Amino acid sequence: MNIITAALIYANGPIHLGHIKSTYLPADIFYKYLKMKGEQAIFICATDDHGTPIVIEAEKRGIAPIELVRYYHNKDLEEFKRLGIEFDIFHWTSSQENRFTTLEFYQALRQYIYQKKVTQYYCEELNKFMPDRYIKGKCKYCNAQDQYADQCENCGKTLHVGDLIDPYCTITNTRPKLRDSDHLFFKLSYFANFLREYNIKIADIEIYNYLKGWLDDLQDWDIVRDLDWGIPVPDLPGKVFYVWFDAPIGYIGSLRALRRDWREVWNNSKIYHFIGKDIIYHHYLFWPAMLYGANMNLPYKIPVRGYLTLEGKKFSKSRGWFLSLEATLNHINPDYIRYYMTTISPSGLIDSDFSFNDFKNKINNDLIANYGNLITRILKLWNGRDLEKTDMDQDEINAYNRYIEYMDNVKLKEGLEVAMGLVGYYNKILTEKEPWKLDYNHAKPIISKVLFGTMFVTKLLYPFIPFTTSNILKLYGQDIDLRYPNKIVFGGSIIPFKKLENEIDILKQSIGT
Ligand code: MSP
Ligand code: ZN
Repeated sequence: MNIITAALIYANGPIHLGHIKSTYLPADIFYKYLKMKGEQAIFICATDDHGTPIVIEAEKRGIAPIELVRYYHNKDLEEFKRLGIEFDIFHWTSSQENRFTTLEFYQALRQYIYQKKVTQYYCEELNKFMPDRYIKGKCKYCNAQDQYADQCENCGKTLHVGDLIDPYCTITNTRPKLRDSDHLFFKLSYFANFLREYNIKIADIEIYNYLKGWLDDLQDWDIVRDLDWGIPVPDLPGKVFYVWFDAPIGYIGSLRALRRDWREVWNNSKIYHFIGKDIIYHHYLFWPAMLYGANMNLPYKIPVRGYLTLEGKKFSKSRGWFLSLEATLNHINPDYIRYYMTTISPSGLIDSDFSFNDFKNKINNDLIANYGNLITRILKLWNGRDLEKTDMDQDEINAYNRYIEYMDNVKLKEGLEVAMGLVGYYNKILTEKEPWKLDYNHAKPIISKVLFGTMFVTKLLYPFIPFTTSNILKLYGQDIDLRYPNKIVFGGSIIPFKKLENEIDILKQSIGT
């Protein structure tokens, strides 16, 4: 069995195209590919329901955290569906299953957990301990104003609680107090050797280099927060597990909601975690240490992708500079979103840019002009007449092998390029041989070859543009698998796509909505 997971999305705001590009789309493409190849696979996701930002967002809206996370859970699932993303389960980390599983992990890891007092900022207005990101003040080393409590962006020094001069709470603008609280720490340092060896084995060199600094200096990890929203810590009233403790456990908690034999399935699968680059160390360090300590199966591969920028500038919710999935889906064919996002998203740490011009160009002059045109041309040429059986030639076999190799290694952009290369190959045959100038007896072998090839490459394109391709495959009697067709049924001629015109301007208008 293969288990595919996509990072669990925080249930406190809308999905945007950045989330899609790095995480949900690649995971779905890979899942569809495996299924099409005939492999068993389970695709798991959930909302990540816990943590202070969710509590604060709910408070802002005057609702309970549970209402906020339920709202986004339903909304997110709906939008994922519209984009063609098909989880086997889309669960939630505030579920019973996740609570049980988290408590079981806690028991299993107890020998690596110890109690220690910590001092923290406390906002008396909100009656809450405040995480570092919500407290600002003057850096005690360089006097720079408005620095976050954990690090000074001016001098680069790491800051500890109490290091800010004149600290203030960024929500209430009042001065926080310092307070002590008993927390639990996970001995990450104990796992140093294991983590080094594990990552030498599974991490790409680029990721390994990124991790090196962390691996050389593993700090024990505070797994408790003073909050009332989360999974309560046994014997520490008023405290919950830190969201990053129960969130990855949510992969297993969700599997547990799907399958009675969840433990066997987890422990006997190849596990793939799809993530964006900002959560590398949670997935390559904390989570494997937790699994190893609890004697559970470790991730097999953790594909990472970089961030998405919009017209060269960083996504920013507060500055309204983003494209929400919902707004985009309202104007754009989901296959266009999937196609374009794949072409700009290589694996690894590199960021990519969403540009309206590039988008229009890739859809109109690449997807439609090449693949759409091939479909229209060959179906018209054929028009349901009799065909002769053809087989793959050496160029097709080579392309197929390269496709499989890329896809198996989660090099999805490259897999798509190989498929589009085949599209070009068939177009070229038509252009060179001009079968429309021949009588049908002479045209038949050419038309047959290109038609069979077109159906075949449509299958290869299915994981990327599933709506269009599954329609075509169904219409012409093809199964969704990786076999070269042996029979094609005429389903009429079609025009599979419509060019992007003023949709682009409308989409520009929906930035930030
Ligand atoms: N809840 C955590 C993940 C827990 S996994 C056990 C989280 N959630 S998130 O909603 O902030 O992000 C969801 C996914 O989108 C993550 O893989 C994250 O890396 C990715 N991205 C978030 N912002 C992004 C961009 N601007 N661009 C690309 N990917 C982005 O992290
Ligand atoms: Zn400083």
